[in-house]
Amino acid sequence: MADRKIVVHADWSLGTINKNIYGHFAEHLGRCIYEGLWVGEDSAIPNTKGIRNDVLEALRKLNVPVLRWPGGCFADEYHWKDGVGPRESRKRMINTHWGGVVENNHFGTHEFFELCELLGAEPYICGNVGSGTVQEMSEWVEYMTSGGDSPMANWRRENGREKPWKLKYFGVGNENWGCGGNMRPEHYADLYRNYQTYVRQYGDNRLYKIAGGANVDDYNWTDVLMREAHWLMDGLSLHNYTIPGSWENKRPALGFDEREWFETMQKSLRMDELITRHSTIMDRYDPQKRVGLIVDEWGTWFLPEPGTNPGFLYQQNTMRDALVAAIHLHVFHKHCDRVQMANLAQMVNVLQAVVLTEGDKMLLTPTYHVLEMFKAHQNAEALAVHGTFGEYEMDGASLPQVSLSASKKDGKLHISLCNLSHADAADLQIELRGTEAAYDCRGVILAADEIGAHNTFEQPERVAPRPFEGATLEGGKLQVRLPAASVVALSLEAR
Ligand code: AHR
Repeated sequence: MADRKIVVHADWSLGTINKNIYGHFAEHLGRCIYEGLWVGEDSAIPNTKGIRNDVLEALRKLNVPVLRWPGGCFADEYHWKDGVGPRESRKRMINTHWGGVVENNHFGTHEFFELCELLGAEPYICGNVGSGTVQEMSEWVEYMTSGGDSPMANWRRENGREKPWKLKYFGVGNENWGCGGNMRPEHYADLYRNYQTYVRQYGDNRLYKIAGGANVDDYNWTDVLMREAHWLMDGLSLHNYTIPGSWENKRPALGFDEREWFETMQKSLRMDELITRHSTIMDRYDPQKRVGLIVDEWGTWFLPEPGTNPGFLYQQNTMRDALVAAIHLHVFHKHCDRVQMANLAQMVNVLQAVVLTEGDKMLLTPTYHVLEMFKAHQNAEALAVHGTFGEYEMDGASLPQVSLSASKKDGKLHISLCNLSHADAADLQIELRGTEAAYDCRGVILAADEIGAHNTFEQPERVAPRPFEGATLEGGKLQVRLPAASVVALSLEAR
C-alpha cells in the first residue's frame, strides 16, 4: 500500500525551468582547469586544442548550458591581459588564494571560449572588481565583444581571433563581501554602478549583467544592492555551500554516519528558505521578477582528501552528494520564476565535482549521474505538485522523506524523485491530473549498497545508473517504490 499520496498537475505550469539552472563553474583552483580540463596541446593525454578528450566527452553528455569562469575568489585577482597572446610569453603568477602554486596563464580568454564552443555551453565571465580597475574590465569586454577598429579588438585579431565572440553573461565581481574586497554592501553597490557603466554593449552583443550577491543569509546585502542598483542589473547572485559541521569545523567527504547524512539533507533543503527569503526582498524592488537570482556557487564542501594540497579543495563524492544535487535541482525548479541560473561548484576535481581525474584516468561521480538523469528538465515547463511526502526523523528533527519534481516538454512528462532516508524505502502513489493521455513509463535509478558508496579509479562504476523497475502506471496512477537513499528519474511518453 502506498503511504504517500502526491498529485502532479500536468496542466498547471509554474514557468520554464531555465536550462542554465544546470550550469557549471570552473575556477583556476587546484586541478580544475589545469589537469582536469586543460592539459595542453603537447600532452600525452588525448586532447582537442589542449582540452582533454575524455572529460570533454563526458561533459558533453550533460548538455552543459553555461560555464562560469575564471572564479570565484581567483576572479578578483585575475588580470586577463596576462592570459592572452603567445602562451610561452604569458606572465606567470602565484595563485595566492588557492594553494600558492604557479599559474602560468596558459588557459586564458581564447582557451575558455574554445572550451565553451567544444562543450556547446554559453560562456559566463566573472570580472575583477576587488583588485582590478574599471578600465581593465571595460577593455576585457571590448576585447571579447567588439567588432570595430578599436585597440582591444585589434589586439584580439593579432592574437588569432578575427570575429568577436558572443558573450551574454558577465559578472561584476565575486563575493565582494569577502575574498572580492571585504566590502560593505553600500560600497559595493556604488562600485557596481560605476564598473557596470563601462561594461559596454558592442554591436548586437547584449550582455546580461550580474551583480555580486549575498553570502548565504545576508539578506541586508540583497536589500542594499536591490535598493541602490536593481535597474542597472539583470541578475543578482547568491552563494551557499552545503557544509556538514561548520565552516570552521568541516567534516570529511567519506566515512560519515547517518547523523551526518541527515544533517547534510537538512542543510541542502535550506536552499529553499534562502531563495524564498532573498526573492521576497527582491520582489519589493522588482515585483515583475525581471532580475534573475543567479545561484552561481552551490554544492557540498567537505575537508580536502587526506594527502592532497588543502588549498586544492579536492574531495570525494558519494551517494550523499547525489542526494544533495537532486534536492538542490528540485528547489531550483520550484523557484524557476526567479532563479535563472545556478552553477555547481565545481566542474572537475574541486568540491562537488562531476568528474574526477588522476593522470590519464577519469571517473564520473554520483553527482554527474544525477545531472545526466535530470537533464530532460532543462527548458521544460515545471509542473505544480502537491501531496504528502512522508517524514524522515532523527533526534527530534523532521524532514520530508521524499523530494519530487515534475516537468513537461515535447509532450513528455518527466518526474524526478529522491528518498532522503538513509534506511527506509518509500512507497508513493502519484496521480497524474490534468491529462487524459495514456503513457509509457521508463525509469532510471541511482542507488548503492551503502550511503557512503562512491566511485574510485579502481572501481569507477560502483555507483552508476541502472534501469528502474520500481514504478508501475495504471489508469493515470503511478505506484513507485523508492529504495532508501536513492535518486530516480521517470520519463512518461504518451502512447
Ligand atoms: O568555490 C570555491 C570558492 O568558494 C570560490 O572561489 C569562492 O567564490 C567561494 O568562497
